[in-house]
Amino acid sequence: MSSSQEMPLVGKPLPSQLSPTCPVHGLAGVSESGSPQAQSQHLTAQMQNSLRPLCLSLETLHRVKSRMLEAMERGLSRRTHSQATVRMLPAFIRSTPDGTERGEFLVLELGDTHLRVLLMELSGDTDQRVTMKERCFPVPDAIAQGPGEKLFAFLATCLWEFLDGLHMPQTDFELGFSFPFTCRQTRLDQSYLISWSKRFQCAGVEGRDVVVLLQDAINKQDRYHIKVIAVVNDTTGTMMSCDASAGPCEVGLVVDAGTNSCFMAEARHVEVVEESEGRMGVVTEWGSFGDDGALNDMLSPYDLQLDQASLNPGRQRFEKMISGLYLGEIVWHILTELFSGRMTPVLLTKGSVQTQDILEITDEQVGLATARRVLRALGLEASDQDCFNMQQVCKAVCIRAAGLCAAGLAAIVSHMCRNRELSRLKTSVAVDGAVFRAHAKFSQTLQQLVKQLAPECDVTLVQAEGSSKGIGMVTAVASRLAAQRLQVNQTLALLQLSPAALGTVQALLRREMELGLKKETNAMSSVRMLPTYICATPDGSERGDFLALDLGGTNFRVLLVKVGSREQGGVQIISEVYSIPPHVAQGPGSQLFDHIVECIADFQTKQGMMGQTLPLGFTFSFPCQQTSLDQGILLSWTKGFNASGCVGQDVVKLLREAVKRKNHFALDVVAIVNDTVGTMMSCGYHDPNCEVGLIVGTGTNACYMEQLRNVGTLAGEEGRMCINMEWGAFGDNGCLDAFFTPFDRQVDEASLNPGRQRFEKLISGMYLGEIVRRILLELTDKGCLFRGRLSPKLQTPDIFQTKFLSSIESDGLALRQVCAILEELGLHVSCEDSVLVREVCQVVARRAAQLCGAAVAAVVEKIRENRSLEQLAVTVGVDGTLYKLHPHFAQQVQETVRQLAPRCSVTFLQSEDGSGKGAALIAAVACRVARHQRA
Ligand code: BG6
Ligand code: GLC
Repeated sequence: MSSSQEMPLVGKPLPSQLSPTCPVHGLAGVSESGSPQAQSQHLTAQMQNSLRPLCLSLETLHRVKSRMLEAMERGLSRRTHSQATVRMLPAFIRSTPDGTERGEFLVLELGDTHLRVLLMELSGDTDQRVTMKERCFPVPDAIAQGPGEKLFAFLATCLWEFLDGLHMPQTDFELGFSFPFTCRQTRLDQSYLISWSKRFQCAGVEGRDVVVLLQDAINKQDRYHIKVIAVVNDTTGTMMSCDASAGPCEVGLVVDAGTNSCFMAEARHVEVVEESEGRMGVVTEWGSFGDDGALNDMLSPYDLQLDQASLNPGRQRFEKMISGLYLGEIVWHILTELFSGRMTPVLLTKGSVQTQDILEITDEQVGLATARRVLRALGLEASDQDCFNMQQVCKAVCIRAAGLCAAGLAAIVSHMCRNRELSRLKTSVAVDGAVFRAHAKFSQTLQQLVKQLAPECDVTLVQAEGSSKGIGMVTAVASRLAAQRLQVNQTLALLQLSPAALGTVQALLRREMELGLKKETNAMSSVRMLPTYICATPDGSERGDFLALDLGGTNFRVLLVKVGSREQGGVQIISEVYSIPPHVAQGPGSQLFDHIVECIADFQTKQGMMGQTLPLGFTFSFPCQQTSLDQGILLSWTKGFNASGCVGQDVVKLLREAVKRKNHFALDVVAIVNDTVGTMMSCGYHDPNCEVGLIVGTGTNACYMEQLRNVGTLAGEEGRMCINMEWGAFGDNGCLDAFFTPFDRQVDEASLNPGRQRFEKLISGMYLGEIVRRILLELTDKGCLFRGRLSPKLQTPDIFQTKFLSSIESDGLALRQVCAILEELGLHVSCEDSVLVREVCQVVARRAAQLCGAAVAAVVEKIRENRSLEQLAVTVGVDGTLYKLHPHFAQQVQETVRQLAPRCSVTFLQSEDGSGKGAALIAAVACRVARHQRA
């Protein structure tokens, strides 16, 4: 059902740019179809004088707008909130209707004289249909002014009576409660009455949570199970009543007896609530704007008189210039001045001019006749000129009200546009209240002026469908959000690891390490614990020029590494990045190695090194069984590589054969090293404490210095050797099965190497995006995301890359930027979608970081125990895009290590030059040793 109506736009622009609300200059022009009678009239000098104080130029309205903006800021800031004149009260509404809400919802709307009970049904397969049944109950004085229990018992009784009359089989309902008194709301379903107003004064309610009081009263019977889930302000009800199909409606505006507005703010700007994600409905309470004097320079003498005579002098200054309760009275003050020479007893009586009449008088068709009727009722014999004058007065008062309202609305939309970091904001504004309903020109003027005052916003005014529907909608949205949250929590709980679970992972890895180190049990372990034939970290005496290759991470690099003394500047690197297209990484092995050799040749040519044979260190980031430093049998491909004919072969030999095939030049490969080892050596050059190498990038792995006596797979007792753990395969023997979620299993099954590298697939950059995508698919399927609609884009494997995970979690990223990142991927998202996507990314990345931390803890604890130390100080050299670029990953790894290995003080040192430098340093040591052996 689409029952919202768009208000017609005014055809002609306002004639006076300078004085849009000035009756003296502009008003006659505003009346596009002035009657012939009116046109023959003119404003007398006295009239001009009387109306001039009501003139507000566009410039003045701009000033009102900027003061309103300042007042809003004060209301939003935690520091100034409590003293702010524009209170900016959080309404705890986190979402506007998205059209997917379904079900039956009850509404209790307590008005000044009546209680309205309503049942709203939202149904439909694709389009939402709304049907409502309602009943009104008069609220007797004895209830409105009796004890609190009586009031709430009355509300509950009306509710049952209403439900009984419907004869429905259903007994379970959720309910929204509109309670129009000043409250301190602390949750959507928690609101403490501050003070009664209007005709209500029930004992024992002030200071108490009205939801609890209502819920207790409702619970006194057991026929119906009704849960109060929302307390709603009428302004938010207005905003929420608009049909979602017309696009987002994120502003509500009421100009009735009083005036107020609300809008969806960015939660992080609403400092008085804890939330920082998503949006939060804020009720401005703008009626009191100006109570600090902000409007003093534009108050007319009539405003001053009205305020003086009011029940609350000095308060609600903005409201007193705009709302229905006061418009009639302002006109009355002007009339008493205009007709001072012809005073009548009726005219002397305050309240003799009704707002309803004022609004009617501004009408082009019937206005003059109404003016005559009203003047007569005031006891005045009205001439045509009098009627014309009366009409001009009413127009002036109404247009000024519309202008002020426009300035306020312009402040709201500009605030939204700015805080969402948009260049243009497009929103509907739901309007309601007697002033809007009775006076089409009010909306037209408002619409035109907002356009001029906030040119960066496209604002469409939409007549709201009454606050009861909106209250029902708030309830329906709250119910949808609660159901979705439950689903989301259930889904994400699978990925949340307790400290005990992390301790288990640490202990399991420790056991696998022990098994992997012993010759007899090595085959049972999922971590290979491969010897690297590297027995010491660099000591600074390494010298010479070396070539290095770095294969297996995001980039393939060829490097020239010049190792000099530290005084000469230490290590200098020249390098070139080459791409390895997937068809090469996954094609025949000979093609892969030919490609590598071509890249080396290209590099040497560019560097003018053709013909030179420098010793070469080869970082090859895949599991290799080594029997010496310059030989490595590939045990398996991992990550995105799967070239045929390589597994089981010596990689150095494959490289040498390719060189031979190409016949360009000679290569002197002196060392093959894993990237973890290259990283440890590279960092070790700066920090001799660096005895662990860690990679968290495309893949994940670690190496560390183990006591040779513990390495059962090698002979020798003395000294240490670096062990390449290949922890990516941890769990491949089933020991981590309890930790895998359905998403992990799906990612594993769809990978190049199902059943293998199971730990890596929980942690590293190559897989995290895919885990996120699988979770998003599931959440969409459950209706928690993208309004339950699966897009082909989301069904595309690997659309999320590591860099996406890093950027989406960047601190201080506005929702708009999150949306922009998702839009770039071709996903059309709402604000809530992007909040949820970010949450999923956070949970997946946090799990990865914690698992990685648990594994590092196992390693450092082993080193400490090996050395029988009470406390160990050790440095971990780290590389990899996920670790380096993700905004929180590193910190979460470190935090986990601190918790799980409290007796180790672990420093994390990021490798700046890549592992090629480490490979060259290893080559340098190898050359030195070789020279010694020859000598
Ligand atoms: C680089 C190292 O800096 O990081 C490589 O030089 C390593 O050897 C790589 O493999 C790991 O990170 P990523 O993110 O590129 O896989
Ligand atoms: C994979 C490789 C391993 C490498 C790691 C990080 O796990 O098997 O050798 O160290 O990725 O690049």
